[in-house]
Amino acid sequence: MGHIVIRNLNKHFSERRGARRTGNGAGGLAGETISVLDDVNLEFENGEMVCILGPSGCGKTTLLRIIAGFDEQFEGQVNVDGQPVDGPCADHIFLFQSSGLLPWMTVRQNVGLGLRQMQDQAKHDETLREYIEIVELEGFEDHYPHQLSGGMQRRAELARALAVNPELLIMDEPFSGLDFFTHMKMREEVVNMHDYIGKTMLMVTHDIDDALIMGDRIVVMSGRPSTIKLARKLDFPRPRDFEHNEELSRLRAEVFLMLGVPYAV
Ligand SMILES: Nc1ncnc2c1ncn2[C@@H]1O[C@H](COP(=O)(O)OP(=O)(O)OP(=O)(O)O)[C@@H](O)[C@H]1O
Ligand SMILES: [Mg+2]
Repeated sequence: MGHIVIRNLNKHFSERRGARRTGNGAGGLAGETISVLDDVNLEFENGEMVCILGPSGCGKTTLLRIIAGFDEQFEGQVNVDGQPVDGPCADHIFLFQSSGLLPWMTVRQNVGLGLRQMQDQAKHDETLREYIEIVELEGFEDHYPHQLSGGMQRRAELARALAVNPELLIMDEPFSGLDFFTHMKMREEVVNMHDYIGKTMLMVTHDIDDALIMGDRIVVMSGRPSTIKLARKLDFPRPRDFEHNEELSRLRAEVFLMLGVPYAV
């Protein structure tokens, strides 16, 4: 499960600009079309950790939203496990770019949101405990989001997403806003979690090293309208480091260049 095939995907937004009130109260609207995704073709294997890079505003979130079924206004084909995507699916979890914890609920209640359907109370409590432990939030079960650090909030969100045992986990910049140390730790934790649950994960990141260290596959998108500049399987063993892996280090320089970032190491 979690095999994704995208063929000839095109996406544009129609903007309504220049709305002006005239003397009699009628609005004058002039339309403008922005092309965001331009003939995108991708295929992700079952259980892959796919890391997606691209300049700001190129269409990464748009692509994720389409795969998650939140946006059905596109041209082309998007299939998950052989089925065309037609709307959100309970088995496909989307972690949004900004925090999605409910502020009036504790960690336990937030993580438990995905388990509401579970009838067996003992199993419910055990699952909850297991995922809170995986993200190392034991002792913070009764804390509210505002009583947690940014990294802890992100971990609670991850626990909530994972507790549902989704077939597909889609994460939009899950490490944004984290300090360096928490970022490094989360990177390791997400790789471990992926090894543990073995489900397909799609992750957008702005960090080239995240993508190269974590990904089973890396996708590099161009500026808007976005085309796919690179979609490459990464067969490098883990743990990965750039110092001892010449090929990975070369690829890193290539990706920096592709994204127009000055490369200095
Ligand atoms: N609902 C919308 N209506 C009109 N334009 C939109 C809409 N959503 C996104 N866009 C436009 O589509 C383009 C891509 O947006 P998107 O959010 O996918 O970029 P992104 O690659 O995720 O950027 P970032 O890295 O900054 O998060 C942008 O130009 C944005 O203005
Ligand atoms: Mg985005």
